[in-house]
Amino acid sequence: MAVRFHNHQRLYKRRKPEIDAAIARVIASGRFDWGDEVPAFEAEFAAWVGAAYAVCVNSGTAALKVALLALDIGPGDEVITVGNTDIASSSSIHHTGGRPVWVEIDPVSKCMDVDALRAAITPRTRAILPVDLYGHPADMKAIMTIAREHNLVVVEDACLSLGATIDGQKIGTFADITCFSFAPVKTSGQLRQRRCSRHAKRRTGRENAQALCLRSGAGPPLHHAWAGRHERPPSRDARAQRAAGRNAGRDPARQAP
Ligand SMILES: Cc1ncc(COP(=O)(O)O)c(C=O)c1O
Repeated sequence: MAVRFHNHQRLYKRRKPEIDAAIARVIASGRFDWGDEVPAFEAEFAAWVGAAYAVCVNSGTAALKVALLALDIGPGDEVITVGNTDIASSSSIHHTGGRPVWVEIDPVSKCMDVDALRAAITPRTRAILPVDLYGHPADMKAIMTIAREHNLVVVEDACLSLGATIDGQKIGTFADITCFSFAPVKTSGQLRQRRCSRHAKRRTGRENAQALCLRSGAGPPLHHAWAGRHERPPSRDARAQRAAGRNAGRDPARQAP
């Protein structure tokens, strides 16, 4: 029996009336960004996590970068992280001008090894970026203790671990900032990168292939020749643009705002 990795259609069918009504409400309001929905979601999400507040951006990648910038990480700063993760954990550090410093993982948990973390701290270390892998959190209690001892900030990459807990306490309440992701195929993030590189090879022009790959920085599957930015377009927006253009019989790019 084939077991599907994810099945968005099934979830949609189960909750179709609510989802359709919610989308229709947003379209009818004419407020396609910001509006009331964003602060309402932020407040509900923060309450669910048990955090003081939540700030919504457009992806887990953006959240990681914005979090590091908010904590003043910049050129010359070392940020200790792990290598067995999505490229976004390290590329977000790179895009602030900081330098990712990779440490070993614990052989059992597959998350950051706290002894390796201690050994990697130098006078240039400013932050720690642990990754919670596939719903299994890093040892956040030990990591926070080490961070406080050395006056370091912690940005936790929980993009793969929405809803995870440690001793009954939700992830999102340990680190200085915790980043989550709502990407549709989160548990199979690799699939997106593979699709991007296959896509790129099919295209004829090298420039076009590079432009496509800039969305994730992927070369061959899971190889990253440069630090891409995950600038992927939501298909929902592309669909709406196409519909708007066709209905008006005009080029969507020329539509008045
Ligand atoms: C551990 C981890 N961090 C960050 C990201 C990036 O999240 P997003 O795809 O929402 O940009 C991913 C995506 O796969 C991930 O697995």
